[in-house]
Amino acid sequence: MNPSLRYAAVVVGAGPAGIAVVGNLLERQLGGKIVWIDPFFDGGRVNRKYREVPSNTKVSLFHAYAQAVQPFRDLVKKSPIPNAFTMMAKLDENKTCSLHYAADMCRALIDGLADQVHQCRGIVTGADLAENSSAGWTVRIRKQGSLQNIEVVAPRLILCTGSSPTLLPIPVRELSMQRLDLDTVLKPSTLATTLPMKAPLVVAVIGASHSAILALMNLVELARLSHSQLRVKWFTRHSLRYAECMDGWVLRDNTGLKGLAAEFAREQLEDARLPQSEAGRFIEKIDCGGHEKELSAYQRHLPECTHLVQAVGFTRDPLPKLSRSGQILNPEFDYESGGFVDGEGRVLRGLYGAGIAFPERIVDPYGNVEYAVGLYKFMKFVKRVCPMWTAS
Ligand SMILES: Cc1cc2nc3c(=O)[nH]c(=O)nc-3n(C[C@H](O)[C@H](O)[C@H](O)COP(=O)(O)OP(=O)(O)OC[C@H]3O[C@@H](n4cnc5c(N)ncnc54)[C@H](O)[C@@H]3O)c2cc1C
Ligand SMILES: NC(=O)c1ccc[n+]([C@@H]2O[C@H](COP(=O)([O-])OP(=O)(O)OC[C@H]3O[C@@H](n4cnc5c(N)ncnc54)[C@H](OP(=O)(O)O)[C@@H]3O)[C@@H](O)[C@H]2O)c1
Repeated sequence: MNPSLRYAAVVVGAGPAGIAVVGNLLERQLGGKIVWIDPFFDGGRVNRKYREVPSNTKVSLFHAYAQAVQPFRDLVKKSPIPNAFTMMAKLDENKTCSLHYAADMCRALIDGLADQVHQCRGIVTGADLAENSSAGWTVRIRKQGSLQNIEVVAPRLILCTGSSPTLLPIPVRELSMQRLDLDTVLKPSTLATTLPMKAPLVVAVIGASHSAILALMNLVELARLSHSQLRVKWFTRHSLRYAECMDGWVLRDNTGLKGLAAEFAREQLEDARLPQSEAGRFIEKIDCGGHEKELSAYQRHLPECTHLVQAVGFTRDPLPKLSRSGQILNPEFDYESGGFVDGEGRVLRGLYGAGIAFPERIVDPYGNVEYAVGLYKFMKFVKRVCPMWTAS
């Protein structure tokens, strides 16, 4: 093996989680170079898909993310002004903001870190752990524009590979409706040109958490401003849930509505408001809690719909093919340590994860279990577990 292809760590993915991991590894001065792999190096889905989405976290948490480790603080300090950090600093830190500010901050961090790590544009296609040697992980990378794989070796492999909107089968078979991609519905400028303006449209929206409420908000705005024949059937299986400030902690911090979505839901979508609200002119709410009720609701209402958008959560993107001494692995994530175990519960040495695909599990004071998804939450998690990752 060419010694230049040996690294202290391989980080896969340059979204907010990968950026947080690289910042923490650099801060801990591993004594070897880090190789960081992503096909785009543009800040992940927040930048590619969600620039037009209003944040559900306060500006102060984006600041906290950018100030959390010394390598970030150094590059914030030396960035020529104006920059993404100074743009963010102009905002009220107690309010939410458009995610394009967070996306630009992520891009600025990636660019600023470029001379401290080896950034490699490409896809990690597989990785093998040498079982009986200290060599660690041999990681296969398909570099962009090349059909050949290169291999690098490192004792640590950290997966920050992200998740995409979950797609479920359409609940009623043989319907000829068109699926709308959730990412499109969350991007008003694209949504406006995707849906025909002058045709009668009935869009089914399934779900009732952040993505679903923003989908409803964007569709209502479209119906109000340009697509006068657009109507929405909103299928929800639970009542609206909001994040609530408690004494020093937040109830439903990861699952409850916050920010603009919460405002819109409280003011326009609650049962007591919907019939009189502006949104109620366009939205018909269909309660489908409970399995039987759900199926009959879909059977009755879906045939009238021309389009369907599912806002039912996110699913991990496919992982590189992982093996141990050539034997295929199906690693299970340990939500406490950020590590992985094999099918028999044995720790997979040097394999770690972070981000929306591999979040920390939190138990709140009432015993509710949630998964910590958000830029600053990734940072807090990685800060806690990174000393363990680098000690071994
Ligand atoms: C609609 C929406 C709004 C959100 N709003 C907020 C918010 O307001 N505030 C907040 O704090 N959080 C928010 N989040 C949560 C979270 O911050 C984002 O989901 C964030 O994008 C997750 O970052 P990530 O790095 O885990 O994954 P991603 O952003 O998906 O990045 C993963 C990266 O890995 C790369 N990758 C994947 N596989 C490979 C491979 N095999 N080889 C090389 N590269 C690979 C991908 O190309 C991608 O660049 C939001 C999430 C969603 C879905
Ligand atoms: N900035 C923003 O405003 C914003 C916008 C979108 C997303 N996000 C973030 O992105 C992450 C994902 O959020 P998300 O809203 O996409 O998903 P989510 O929080 O995972 O919620 C998924 C929702 O879909 C419902 N659901 C699942 N399967 C269903 C089915 N078969 N039929 C009907 N409903 C179903 C769930 O209901 P049950 O609870 O009953 O299962 C739940 O309400 C979160 O971290 C969120 O904070 C942020």
